[in-house]
This record gives sequence, C-alpha cells and structure tokens, in this order.
Amino acid sequence: MKIKLNGKIIDIRAIWIENKQKGIVKMIDQRYLPFRIVFFESKNVDETAWAIKNMVTRGAPNIGVAGAYGIYQAVIEAINKEDFLKHIMKKAEILKATRPTAINLSNIIDEVLDFIYKELEDGVSKTELIERVYNKVESIAKREIEANHKIGEIGKKLIKDGDDVLTHCNAGALAAVDIGTALAPIRYAHYEGKKITVYVNETRPWLQGARLTAWELEMENIPYYLISDNASGLFMYKGIIDIVIVGADRIAMNGDVANKIGTYKLAVIAKENNIPFYVAAPLTTFDPKIPSGDKIPIEERSPEEILYVLGYDDETNSLRKVRISLNTSKVLNPVFDITPFKYIDGIITEAGILRSQADIKNAVKNFMRKRD
Ligand code: MRU
Repeated sequence: MKIKLNGKIIDIRAIWIENKQKGIVKMIDQRYLPFRIVFFESKNVDETAWAIKNMVTRGAPNIGVAGAYGIYQAVIEAINKEDFLKHIMKKAEILKATRPTAINLSNIIDEVLDFIYKELEDGVSKTELIERVYNKVESIAKREIEANHKIGEIGKKLIKDGDDVLTHCNAGALAAVDIGTALAPIRYAHYEGKKITVYVNETRPWLQGARLTAWELEMENIPYYLISDNASGLFMYKGIIDIVIVGADRIAMNGDVANKIGTYKLAVIAKENNIPFYVAAPLTTFDPKIPSGDKIPIEERSPEEILYVLGYDDETNSLRKVRISLNTSKVLNPVFDITPFKYIDGIITEAGILRSQADIKNAVKNFMRKRD
C-alpha cells in the first residue's frame, strides 16, 4: 500500500520480517492510526501473540501471516531446546488462541506446522529447517498478497463507473498484508479510472472504518465519505449505494460468513433494497471443518472497547482515551456476527466469484489439494 511517511510516498506492507537471522517481525502499529504512524517490533513469538491479541496487527488474512511469522520465531527459539517440537507446538496453541473467530490464523499456522513435521520426517537438520521455514512463511505471505491482487482484478468488474460503494470495518491492506480483500476491487476500479465513491462505516466499537479504512483511502486519494454505522441503512433506502463489499473472518462450508459486528444488518438491509452484497476473501478464510455459521465461535472482547474511545484532542495535540458511559454499565462486546449465505450475492476469491455451495466446495477442495 502507498502511504505518506516523513513527506515521502512509500510502498509498505502491514507486516514483514525485518531481520531473518534474529527473527524480528515488524508491523504497522494499527492502534495509533490514523493519528500517528508507529511501528511495532516483535522480537519473539510471545510478543507476536501479544501484538495479535491487542490489535497492534489485525484483520483475518493479516493475522494469518502474523501467525506464520510467529511460528518462524518459535522455530528459531526452539533450536537449542531439547523439547524442540513441543516448544513450537506450545507456541502454536498460544498464537491460535489470540483471536478465536478469524480462521486464517489457525489455517495458516497448521499449514506451517504440517510443513515442519514433513521436513523433520525427511530428516532435515534443525539449522536447515530454519531456512526452509523462512522460505515457507514468506511464500505464504506472497501467496496471500497475490490472492488479494486476483480478488481486485476479479472484483473490479462488479463496480461500475460512477458507483457508490459501501464497506464495513477495515478489509484493506492493513487487514490483509497488502492491497486488501474488500478494498482490492475498490482500489483496482479506482486505478482503472472509474469514478467511485466509498461510503465507510465508522465501525463501532474499535472504529476500524474511521481509523483505518478512511486512512487507507485518503492515502490513495480514493473519494470517500465517513458515515456512522447507523446511517448506512438510510443511504441504502435512498438508493445511493450501488454495491456493498465487505471482508470475512471465517466462512463456513455452506457460505455463511463471520465478519465484523454489524455486517449482518447491512446484508439484510441490502437485500431488502435489492443492492448487491458481496464478500471478498482469500480461500484461507474458509473453514472446511465448519458446516454452517452457527458453529463459528464469536470472539468477545473487553468491555473497555465499548466504554472508552481513543481519539485525538485537537486542543492539546495529543491522543486521549475517554470514557463515554457510566463506569458501572454492564457491557456485552461480541466483535463478529454471522451473515447467512442467502443474503450474499457472491464471495469474491482468488479462484473466482463463488455463488453457490457447490462453487465453495470445489474451490476449497482445489485450494487444499494445491496447497498440500
Ligand atoms: O477485529 P478485526 O479488526 O481484526 O476485524 C477485521 C474484520 O472484521 C475484517 O472485515 C476481516 O478480518 C477481513 S480483513 C481482510
């Protein structure tokens, strides 16, 4: 993604390996955007797990790659330990538990673990294994970015010149290493010269729309309006929105989608108003073990996210966290919801637009066959 840093435009990913030998992973610290561009350096797998849990880095495909990098760090750490494999497996469980809904995390960690088992079975030395795991995790990151580009190429055809596009949360480069999933068709349509306007839901409680999607669009001069979550129904009712595109954190085999809380309401309102509703996600977001959405675990996060907001105080030029309700309020904070497949016109993936359960089954089967 292109960002402005110290007066220069640079191309940057949301996360990368900064130092291969030491296993240092660097990421844009998303807790401070759009107010400050701060980088977070993780020196070991525990710090990477902490960063995922605490939203330093976030978004399903992005934390999948963070998980892969965490396993690479665990392999480096384990090299002098007697319980080599046990150490890696213990850290894999810690990483997986950080965000329970986004399946990319477990899917990608399991992919790297399977790779490690195979290499060890083939008698590869531990030192050689570090090199091979490095190549594996970097090839996964590359594959995820390529998938996003394909999603952009395929999805841009759904967006017409002059369209008003509604999106929710942040399914951009920050959430998917680079380019994004829902933001990929939007970026590609814009690069092609289509005059589009994006309606960005602010996305309470963590405000991924206001903080991150608005920032990404601003960085690339893509026209947008930031709107309150509650306003999107009105814009759909008035016939202003032409298409809705969102990301996904886990997709069941029947096509039900877990995504940021509030997605379900959007899909129902879109259907009511005959507005096409699309989900954009790489194939690592599908869960072959989950038949339907009701089986997807929904992550609950801290009441703090509802009770407090972090904002920029223009008077003191500083960041401030303020409480917006009674500190005695009891809070419920589920951060994802389930959108049944019947409300979804198609799932834009790197393998094409999936419009039926048969499409999903085939695409997931082919992906897993190619991957193994
Ligand atoms: O809690 P977050 O910010 O990690 O949630 C992110 C989302 O819900 C995104 O829509 C989803 O991960 C898709 S990102 C390409």
